Amino acid sequence: MEAYQEFVTNIKKLTRIDLSLYKEKQMKRRIYSLMKRNNMADLASYFMLLKHSERHLKEFLNYITINVSEFFRNPAQWTVLEKEILPLLIAKGKILKVWSSACASGEEAYSLALLFEKIGYNKVDILATDIDDDALEAARLGVYSEKSVENVPEELKRTFFMVKEGKYFIKEEIKKKVKFKNLNLLEDEFPKNCDLILCRNVMIYFTEEAKDRLYKKFYDSLADDGVFFVGNTEQILMPQKYGFMSIKSFFYKKLK
Ligand SMILES: C[S@@+](CC[C@H](N)C(=O)[O-])C[C@H]1O[C@@H](n2cnc3c(N)ncnc32)[C@H](O)[C@@H]1O
Repeated sequence: MEAYQEFVTNIKKLTRIDLSLYKEKQMKRRIYSLMKRNNMADLASYFMLLKHSERHLKEFLNYITINVSEFFRNPAQWTVLEKEILPLLIAKGKILKVWSSACASGEEAYSLALLFEKIGYNKVDILATDIDDDALEAARLGVYSEKSVENVPEELKRTFFMVKEGKYFIKEEIKKKVKFKNLNLLEDEFPKNCDLILCRNVMIYFTEEAKDRLYKKFYDSLADDGVFFVGNTEQILMPQKYGFMSIKSFFYKKLK
């Protein structure tokens, strides 16, 4: 077996993360740069290091999962969400089930909670999931840099954050609106009956095969007329193949 394939198999056994579903070139670049940083000459010895050192395994997982995020990332899309998509969903007159499916340190999920505050709608359940436990821990803590909250509208920032020594602490009333949980998109079962799913800035790391599988799972996970919201470089090539209809750039509706 080629050394990389063997590494991938071993990592799957050790962590449940299937690197074969992540784009190989990009993944290799990241792995080799970590190996260099740790003076590891080959993949086999690097795997041994990961197996026996929790610190290095943590470093590896953090580096390959890429947690970069910010509140209201790509603000123009959030305006479309607020003005054009949410009114459609709210018209359903039910408790909305919303899922932020690769939530990193919570920025996206809390942006949703803030947006529902802004429009004064509180019949909503927000679930936020990620594969990375460290990111989820940071999400539950809810402390952010000034840069990360840059796109939060001033009024929301004033009302729902406490600022201390340059850090922005999200208030408890927003925190309690979001439920965080570990979920591996490539392995785990998806929640059902979601009215809105966000899957943003993670598909770019996956192979075509993985994406194909995920679009089908997201379709099944949506309620009738549910909406799927993707990242700025992640438009679905043939949405109808998966039962989606594009209703706005980056927003897809589930067709029955
Ligand atoms: C760049 S962040 C995106 C955060 C947010 N959605 C945004 O757009 O700002 C990518 C996130 O995907 C998560 N991720 C990577 N592989 C995953 C998987 N197989 N299942 C669930 N989350 C995954 C990473 O841990 C990371 O937090």
